[in-house]
Amino acid sequence: MEAVARRLTGKNALVTGAARRIGRAISLALAREGANVALHYSSSEREIAELAAEIEGLGLQAVTLRADLSDPAELVGLVERARDALGKIEILVNNASIFPSDTLETIEIEGLERNLEINAWAPLVLTRSFAAQTERGHVVNLLDSRVSGFDSGHVSYILSKHVLAALTRMSALELAPGIAVNAVAPGLILPPAGKDEEYVDRLAQTIPLKRRGAPEDVAAAVVFLVTSAFVSGETIYVDGGRHLKENAPDGPDRNK
Ligand SMILES: NC(=O)c1ccc[n+]([C@@H]2O[C@H](COP(=O)([O-])OP(=O)(O)OC[C@H]3O[C@@H](n4cnc5c(N)ncnc54)[C@H](OP(=O)(O)O)[C@@H]3O)[C@@H](O)[C@H]2O)c1
Repeated sequence: MEAVARRLTGKNALVTGAARRIGRAISLALAREGANVALHYSSSEREIAELAAEIEGLGLQAVTLRADLSDPAELVGLVERARDALGKIEILVNNASIFPSDTLETIEIEGLERNLEINAWAPLVLTRSFAAQTERGHVVNLLDSRVSGFDSGHVSYILSKHVLAALTRMSALELAPGIAVNAVAPGLILPPAGKDEEYVDRLAQTIPLKRRGAPEDVAAAVVFLVTSAFVSGETIYVDGGRHLKENAPDGPDRNK
């Protein structure tokens, strides 16, 4: 077994949308710090089983929990199921998200509602359930570096992330002093559905560090936040400086 620094030994975490991509990297990073992890997923059954096996291989507990976060009945019991399986949950990472395209021209209330439901309402309900079962802990919400500006090609999505950003600050105040609530805002990390690696590499040339990030960069920021004793209500941009240019004339092309 690899040598691990274990700053989270004895802690139990719940990560939503844990099966693939950034959620997977966050789950593994928490486990490498010694946390047991409740791995939430929706449709990625094979991937979540593989991830659970990998975490168990590190000598930690992993439990897989399926739930459609847009189904109120499945959403409301998720933290409780994690707690029943592992014990008190002291780390919650709200990572699951949808990223559909729409514009101010095409936006419909149904699309906005669905984005709000999965990207903002689900984190709110999970944070509330989380706080009901622990006096101390950390919540981390995954935003998007474009909350520093707009995303004219994903209007419902970015509006829902703005709600989540406000929720982060609000719940940091409401849940203090026992629970710290923070956010990580990734930039160019992985191509969204329908786009290839070349798309991300091309856009990367427009950001200050002129390169893309890795899921592990995002995970490192999450680990920093959940191991910090004195940071709350903060957002860490993991975006190579992209947020600094979000509204600049030569900023990233947000429509392509
Ligand atoms: N990728 C990037 O470069 C980037 C950039 C900026 C911000 N972010 C943010 O970082 C986070 C992770 O990004 P990502 O690209 O890795 O996410 P992703 O692959 O788009 O989605 C993560 C997971 O969300 C789950 N999910 C979607 N709808 C769900 C529902 N109704 N119920 C339950 N689970 C649902 C899916 O689980 P299943 O696979 O199990 O169905 C999916 O694997 C997101 O919050 C995203 O907005 C990412």
